[in-house]
Amino acid sequence: MTNNYIPVKIAGVGYSLPETVITNDDLTKLYDTSDEWIYSRTGIKERRLVSGDEDAIDLGLVAAENALKKSGIKPEELDLIIAASSAPPQLYPAIACHIQSRLGIETDIPAFDITAACSGLIYGMHVAKGFINSGIYKNILIVATDNNSRYLDWSDRGTSILFGDGAGAMVLTAAEDGVDDILYIDIKAKGSIGELIYKDNVGQNCPLVEPCSEHDGFIHMNGRGVYTFVAKILPKYVEDLLEHAGMKAEDIDYLIPHQANLRIIQAVQERLGYSDDKVVTNIKYYGNTSAASIPIALAESVEKGNVKLDTTAILCGFGAGMTWGGAIVRLREGIC
Ligand code: ACO
Repeated sequence: MTNNYIPVKIAGVGYSLPETVITNDDLTKLYDTSDEWIYSRTGIKERRLVSGDEDAIDLGLVAAENALKKSGIKPEELDLIIAASSAPPQLYPAIACHIQSRLGIETDIPAFDITAACSGLIYGMHVAKGFINSGIYKNILIVATDNNSRYLDWSDRGTSILFGDGAGAMVLTAAEDGVDDILYIDIKAKGSIGELIYKDNVGQNCPLVEPCSEHDGFIHMNGRGVYTFVAKILPKYVEDLLEHAGMKAEDIDYLIPHQANLRIIQAVQERLGYSDDKVVTNIKYYGNTSAASIPIALAESVEKGNVKLDTTAILCGFGAGMTWGGAIVRLREGIC
C-alpha cells in the first residue's frame, strides 16, 4: 500500500436492458389508469421488464461485459467487484459473486453488494474511489442492476407505473496519466425518513415463538412524500456539489440525473439554468430502473450521439433509505 493519492480514471461504462416493452396503455389492462395520467405526472411512456427466468444478474453480466470491453481491462485483471442493487433476485450469494463467477474470474477477488437503492451507482463509485485512491485496489468493476418488476404489486397503480428493469456498469481504474476523472463526489442518507420507500423480506416464524406480523414483500412508496422531499433537497444539493468542487453550473457540459420523475429532473435543470440539450432524460422509455438508471442514461446518450465525450457531467441520484449522492466527473473519449 502507498500513502500517495492515486487518481481515478473512469475507463468504461456499459448497459443492458430487457427486450420486453410494457407501455402505459398495457397497464390500463391491470387497473384504472391512462397514458395521459402517467405521462403527465412522471414523463414515462413505457418501461422494459425481465421476462421468464431472466433476472438482474443476467442484465448485470451483459452491462459488465460491455463496460469491460470499452475499458480495455480484462475480467481477470479486476481486483474487486461491487454490485449495487435494491431489487436483487437473491439476497445471497451477492450479485457481485454471481458476476465474478459468470465472467469466469478464478482469482478469488473480493465481491460484494451494496444497498443504496437508486443512489447505488454513486455509492459504489465512492467506495471504489477510496480503494483506488489509497492504492489498495487498481481495477474495480461496479455493476448497478435491479429487477424491480419482480417486487412490485401489479395491482398498485401508485408504484407499478414507475419502475422498470435494467443494468448499468462502470469500470474504474488507477489513472496512470495522473488525471482524476472524479472531480468531486458525495453521498448522503437520512434513515429517519426511510419509511417513504421500503420493501420487506418475507420470512417465516419458528413455530416455537410468538408469530411476527405479516409482510407482503412488495415495494411500498409514499410517492407524494418522496416527491416533496426530493424536489426540496436535490436542486440545492446539486448546487452545493458544484460549490464544493469549486465550479460553476456553466463549467459543466451535462446533467445526467437518476431517472425517477421528469418533474424532479426539471426542478434541478431550472436551478442550474440548463437548456434541454444539456440534460439527459430517457425516463420516457425505461421508467425508473433504480441503481441502473444513471449508467444507462450515460451510456445510451453517448451511443445516440446526444452526449459528446471529452466533456464533464454532474451525475446525481436519490432513492430508498432515503439516500442521495452526486458526482462531478470527466467523461473521457472512448468510455462508452
Ligand atoms: N393512474 C390514475 N390515477 C392514479 C394513479 C394512476 N397510476 N396513481 C394514483 N392515482 C390517483 C390516486 O388514487 C389519487 O386519487 P384520489 O385523489 O382520488 O385519492 C390521485 O391520483 C393522486 O394520487 P397521488 O399519489 O397523490 O399522486 P401524485 O400526484 O403524487 O403522483 C407519483 C404520484 C407519480 C407517484 C408522484 O408522487 C411521484 O412521482 N413521486 C415520486 C416518486 C419517486 O420519485 N420515487 C423514487 C423512487 S426511488 C427508489 O429508490 C425506489
